[in-house]
Amino acid sequence: MKPSAQLADAMNEHMKNEFYSSYLYLAMAAWSESAGFEGAGQWMRRQAAEEHGHGMKFYDFLLDRGATVVLKSIPQPPADFGTLRAMYEQGLRHEEMVSQSINRLYALALQDHDFAAAQFLDWFVKEQVEEEKTMQTIVDRLTLAGGDGPALLQLDRELASAKQDAGEAEGGAA
Ligand code: FEO
Repeated sequence: MKPSAQLADAMNEHMKNEFYSSYLYLAMAAWSESAGFEGAGQWMRRQAAEEHGHGMKFYDFLLDRGATVVLKSIPQPPADFGTLRAMYEQGLRHEEMVSQSINRLYALALQDHDFAAAQFLDWFVKEQVEEEKTMQTIVDRLTLAGGDGPALLQLDRELASAKQDAGEAEGGAA
């Protein structure tokens, strides 16, 4: 069964949000590295790859269900994020927006009685809990560090090898 036209359109729109997430985190990686935060840069590069994987999950689902894949225009992300804390704060706000978009898709899937789509979206509902939690934890730690240079550098070092959320492997492989 194909998704309804309304659900397919909303999924294509959301797929664009996931690809935009990848673009946004790549911009954050570039800003981090140019500001001397190599660890955050590596973290953001990994996050960008993970988001690309999320976009591809929608791509594959739409194809599998016989719907048309429409690659919509991806907006240009900012190039300057101010401070490390401000950057992660923007990442957190972005993830909250992505969660709302997933919730809207889920509501549409239930309205259509499209349980295959709802089951597909279950993974994303869980993933967004992890994504928001991960970003929030980093924002909290950056808030504690404040303007303390050595504390910021220590956090940056930890970000270089920090385990991303559980979706990394699955999302990246998708
Ligand atoms: Fe794929 Fe971070 O939402």
